[in-house]
This record gives sequence, structure tokens and C-alpha cells, in this order.
Amino acid sequence: MYSITHSNMRQVIVGIESTAHTLSFGLVDMDGEPHNSYSSLFRPDEGGIHPREAADHHSDIASKLLRRMLSEENLHPNQIKGIAFSQGPGLGPCLRVGATVARALAANWNIPLIGVNHCVAHIEIGRNQTGCEDPVLLYVSGGNTQVIARAGDRYQVLGETLDIGIGNMLDKFARSQGIPFPGGPKIEILANEWLVKNPEADLEDIPLPYSVQGMDLNFSGILNAAQQRISEGHEIGAVCWSLQEHAFAACVEVAERALAHTGKNELLLGGGVACNERIRDMSTKMCIQRGDIASWPEKRFCIDNGTMIAELGRRMLNVGISTDMSLSSVDPSLRTDHTIVTWE
Ligand code: ATP
Ligand code: FE2
Repeated sequence: MYSITHSNMRQVIVGIESTAHTLSFGLVDMDGEPHNSYSSLFRPDEGGIHPREAADHHSDIASKLLRRMLSEENLHPNQIKGIAFSQGPGLGPCLRVGATVARALAANWNIPLIGVNHCVAHIEIGRNQTGCEDPVLLYVSGGNTQVIARAGDRYQVLGETLDIGIGNMLDKFARSQGIPFPGGPKIEILANEWLVKNPEADLEDIPLPYSVQGMDLNFSGILNAAQQRISEGHEIGAVCWSLQEHAFAACVEVAERALAHTGKNELLLGGGVACNERIRDMSTKMCIQRGDIASWPEKRFCIDNGTMIAELGRRMLNVGISTDMSLSSVDPSLRTDHTIVTWE
């Protein structure tokens, strides 16, 4: 009776995200309608993220989050048509928790397992949400900063950070000022508050390095210099403002060059730093000048979330791609351009 009751109800793909600090279960309908993610963020008491501690957090919370999703979404397991998980890139111990849960569920429910590329998932949830067709992606997160565009059957990386990710830089600066992880949102608030009080502010008064090398970027120098400005006596709000202006302008410059070189006319933002209103605003202004369009997914789909993993899994399953158990081990250094794209 139970399965008959559910046979006319919606069918979904579930996605599991566990690349770093966030464990998240999310789902998407078979027609691509994205739904909520059920997430838990690991916040270290002090210092950066220790992979083993984050992985312990993920395994401790996994069954609770899964049960919450099933009950709040009123889902019966026989409505779940596939389990997608982040196969890489990310922190090995964290990735393995998500992969293990995904394998267990796929075996238990006898449904396909789909290992997905986390970076590509940021692109596909963006395409899903904005309707853009063939964008240049400015992927700005904690661990990654890349400018990406589709060429042939791959998403190619046209430019990227040569050292740390932009979000990582913001988080490290914040931490050095006693602001807990994640620091990016608080830096945005401090920068805005300071600018309201100092509308005539001049970037030359709070100089920072601007590091673009061809199509590549780096953020260690600007992090050190920002800390230096604080020790010279500049207000934290002023330094946050200058830090955002310099770091975001560098990213937007590389994105602009990518649009010019590829001839594409859509810019898509993705990754946690794409929640920031200032980088959105700069991207919009640059695109308006070029006659292009800038867009981004809702904030809940910019940060790491299970729904984006489900969405890429859905697209892959639609073209017949699933992952055999024997090939489902994680790949912490998986590259964006490693994945062959055969879906629309
Ligand atoms: P990835 O694995 O793709 O590198 P991630 O593990 O860094 O992702 P995300 O959730 O994509 O995780 O991004 C988190 C980052 O986004 C953190 O560095 C955080 O400070 C930053 N961030 C979130 N909101 C904002 C904001 N409003 N302004 C600036 N940075 C932000
Ligand atoms: Fe991410």
C-alpha cells in the first residue's frame, strides 16, 4: 500500500555535500526544481579547520540531518531516484564521510550512486537558477577562486588563484582580528558601516596590493598588507572596505578579460563569496559597460549546499551517467576541467 500511495508523488534526487566545513543534504525534483538543503556548518573553537575534526562533526550529525530532511520534506525513500555526492575536490576525511553515507544509502535503497565534481556543481546550480546558457563563471569561495568557461566537452579554467582562495583570505584576515569563521559576511558588514560614515573615502589612504598576473590572481600579499594596515592604526572598517575593493576588483578584471577572450556574454557568480553584495555590484557594472549580463543564484545556493550536488547528479543521471561502487572513491584534488560534460 505504502509504495502505491507514493507512486504518484514527486520523485527526487538527493545530494550530499561534504567537501570541507559544511555537511549538507539537499534535493531537486526530477524536472530540476531545487529544494531546501539541510546543512550543518563546522565552526572550530579556534584556529582554522582541522580536516579530522570537521569529518568527526560530519559523521556525528549525518543521520540527524538526513532524518530531518526526510521528515520535513515528507519524503519516503522510494521517492528518491538517485544519490549524488561530492567526489572532490576537498578535504579527504570530510569527503569520505559524504561518500560513505552516499554509498550506504544507494546500496540500501537500491538506487544509482552519482559522484560529482563540486566545482562543476556550483556552475550547474547557477545555470539552473538564472537560466543562463553558456556563461563565464566567476567562482569565488573559501578554497577556490577560478574563472571558468565551457570549451568543447569541459569547463576549462581560464584563470585562478596561484595561492589561497579569496574566501580563505577573508577568513584569515577576520580571524587575525578576532572575528570567528566565516569572516567574509562580517567583513562585508564592517566595510558597509564604515563607508556609510565615510562616503568620501579614498582608496589611496588605505593602500593595498592589487595582484593580477595575466589571467591569474593571488591573495597572500593582500592579506599580509591588510594586517599591516591595522598595525599602522587604520580602523578595521576602513581596512575591510579597501580589502574588498581591491580583491573583488582583481577578480572582476579577470572575469572581464575572460568574457572578452571567449566572446561569451553572460557572467555567472558562484561560491560563498558570491553572497557579497559588493562583488555582485562590481560584476553588474562591468557587464553593463560591455552590454553583457551578470547573474548569480540565491545566497543559499552560493554557499556549499547539498541541493547543488543533487542538481548536477540529476543532469548526469539524465544522460545515463552513474558511478559504480568500485569507482566511487573520493579525489581530494579533482580539477574542474577533469570532468567531461555530456549533459545540457
Ligand atoms: P569550495 O569548496 O567551493 O572552495 P568553500 O568550502 O569555501 O567552498 P563556500 O560555502 O562556497 O565554501 O564558501 C565559504 C566562503 O564564503 C567563506 O570563506 C566565507 O567567508 C565566504 N563568504 C560567505 N558569505 C560572504 C559574504 N557575504 N562576503 C564575503 N565572503 C563571504
Ligand atoms: Fe564550494
